[in-house]
Amino acid sequence: MGVYAVTGSASGMGAAVVQRLIDAGHRVITVDIAQADVVADLSTAGGRRDAAEKVLAACGGRLDGAVLAAGLGPSPGRDRPRLITQVNYFGVVDLLEGWREALAATGNAKVVVFSSNSTTTMPMVPNRAIAALLDGDAERALRAYRPFAKMAPTMAYGASKVAVTHWMRRRSVEPEWVRAGIRLNAIAPGAVLTPLLEKQLATPGEARAIKSFPVPAGGYGDAGLLADWVVHMLGPAADFMVGSVVIVDGGSDAWFRADDW
Ligand code: NAI
Repeated sequence: MGVYAVTGSASGMGAAVVQRLIDAGHRVITVDIAQADVVADLSTAGGRRDAAEKVLAACGGRLDGAVLAAGLGPSPGRDRPRLITQVNYFGVVDLLEGWREALAATGNAKVVVFSSNSTTTMPMVPNRAIAALLDGDAERALRAYRPFAKMAPTMAYGASKVAVTHWMRRRSVEPEWVRAGIRLNAIAPGAVLTPLLEKQLATPGEARAIKSFPVPAGGYGDAGLLADWVVHMLGPAADFMVGSVVIVDGGSDAWFRADDW
């Protein structure tokens, strides 16, 4: 049985992944801002360093896999673009960089990063913010959202998810990851009914946008079904899966861009 680190473990899809891994007999080191083995605020560099170190201590320097599910949705708020940037982007890349050697130590580790179908369906996300994030420059990314005023959290969300997906794909084929047996992949959910989405649905403006968004299958996704895909991507089925992005969104991405492949 393996040892896995899961961020965003206290709620939604992260919690559903944790439950499935424990039911399958694995050991899980949970990471969240509250109610976790490792309590850490991933919106600060110090919190991320602390989380990385405490997980390494708890796993004895060997990880069979990791799931990076901690994230914030694009709800309104002045400080929201910064928080989204710090948690959704740096909360993934800083932890994975800190855990790379522990993942390499098992020789066959699997990692699933939470992307989003906003990476392919959200218009106008500024490319210069994505480039800034990939350069590790949060302040430059934040400046790119200023002209969007009230839409800044939405743009920050879209950019964080595109950038984290590009980061994952770039690293997935680098020898120090792929030759060390580490399989980096991402899941890109559509609208899934978790506390994150419930919060958005409770805000009238956001609820309107979400309800008018095309979902050919109808309704919202279920956290448990998404977790089933993640757990599959942590198993031997992913031995030959490198840098893939699995879209599970009820058909929204296909609706917008069926031939764009
Ligand atoms: P959720 O809100 O149920 O869970 C997110 C978890 O992240 C929470 O436990 C929260 O405490 C944790 N978190 C937030 N800020 C943190 C911080 N500063 N430090 C440590 N932990 C922090 O959300 P959900 O829906 O389960 O989302 C999981 C992932 O899936 C996120 O990355 C989200 O962006 C992504 N996603 C969600 C979609 C949805 O419709 N629910 C759609 C597409 C992507």
